[in-house]
Amino acid sequence: MDVSDESRISRRGVIGGGVAAAAIVVSPGGVGNGSGMRTVATMPVSIDVNGERRALDLDPRTTLLDALREHLHLTGTKKGCDHGQCGACTVIVNGERINSCLSLALQHDGDSVTTIEGLGRADELHPMQAAFVEHDGYQCGYCTPGQICSAVSVLKEIEAGVPSHVTGDLSARMQPTGAELRERMSGNICRCGAYSNIAAAIAHVAGEKA
Ligand code: FES
Ligand code: FES
Repeated sequence: MDVSDESRISRRGVIGGGVAAAAIVVSPGGVGNGSGMRTVATMPVSIDVNGERRALDLDPRTTLLDALREHLHLTGTKKGCDHGQCGACTVIVNGERINSCLSLALQHDGDSVTTIEGLGRADELHPMQAAFVEHDGYQCGYCTPGQICSAVSVLKEIEAGVPSHVTGDLSARMQPTGAELRERMSGNICRCGAYSNIAAAIAHVAGEKA
């Protein structure tokens, strides 16, 4: 078998696999029903979003990010890379931050999700939101909702004594040092490079100097 044969077989396999995968989510009456339309099977999910129970019927492949943005129209949570690399989609689930682009909505049935819209209101900002404003912790603002959700969780992680890569003495009470804050925020990318002001805002809330 030469390389081109292998390549052909490989491509056939991939195409076959793709058809099989599609068949899983297409209902029996959906294909060849004469309408030219494909019916996609959906599944119910119920998620507490910003304190409100939201019931949805979703294509099982829907990410939590798309459920929030496209189905619940909570567009404060941003889609940057859609691959878990930028942190723009960070939300807080059951008290812990996650990249919502890497998580299927159906995995969060019964969970409690907080987005930037649920942290504070325009007339009553969360202390972290207020600190970002005070310290000019943004330029275009695209990464900011993810930065703020992440930062709120970071301070809780430190308070709970969850170690990071730069934590030294694990037996000592953990402090929100500049090194701890920067390490823990390293998954949130800011293309505008507003890092020093972001660090200052978080340090302000933590009561430390960045
Ligand atoms: Fe989720 Fe970039 S959009 S990490
Ligand atoms: Fe523009 Fe961070 S403020 S990407």
